[in-house]
Amino acid sequence: MVDDDKGKIEDATVESGQTPLNDEARRHFLQGGIAVAAGLVLLSIGALDKVFRFFFGPRLTEQEETTILRAHVKYSEQTLSLEKLELEREHNNYIFVAALADLDQTTGKYFIDYDMGPALAFLGSDGLPDLLSAKCTHLGCTVGNQTNDKGQVLCPCHVSYFDIKTGAPTPDSPAKTPLPHLGWVLMDKQKKVLASRSAAGEISGDIGHAKQQGADVYIQKTAGAV
Ligand code: FES
Repeated sequence: MVDDDKGKIEDATVESGQTPLNDEARRHFLQGGIAVAAGLVLLSIGALDKVFRFFFGPRLTEQEETTILRAHVKYSEQTLSLEKLELEREHNNYIFVAALADLDQTTGKYFIDYDMGPALAFLGSDGLPDLLSAKCTHLGCTVGNQTNDKGQVLCPCHVSYFDIKTGAPTPDSPAKTPLPHLGWVLMDKQKKVLASRSAAGEISGDIGHAKQQGADVYIQKTAGAV
């Protein structure tokens, strides 16, 4: 550059109040500022994320949210149906168990008793219902509904066998007390009581007639268990 041109540039720079050094410094300053701002934004997002997670738990994937939602719906449905069963038992003196003709000697039909416990209905060898609690007397698991060749049902939790005729556990079972038997009532289709048996085994009514009528089996609120 000739001395004349150089002089002009310096003059112009002096006139505008800027020097090449000042521009450079400003650029660095700006870049630094942007970097710091970006860092602060990222930091604040991370901090916000931590705060969010602290209060609302970890973020879930769509699939995890769907799974949780489904489990929640299922739990609500179960709660609802349990409440319905409870209300039904509260307001009715009789609860339908099964048609007598549908009972079987080796496969018990599950139902819920008046205490909201699981129970089983078998057909006894006399052709009458045989109802007993299905709540294991060891630690409360539900016993199976299939009898083995000795007429026993199994509680799979800690392996207790119960004789369905007597309710008694086998001597080597962890359960030491029998499954209580439940009373029952036989009714015709018009819900007229034909016969009944208490939990203690006392029979009333015309059993023969009830059998011929194709009666339905009910449990009765006051029947209790023995
Ligand atoms: S709960 Fe049935 S054997 Fe333990």
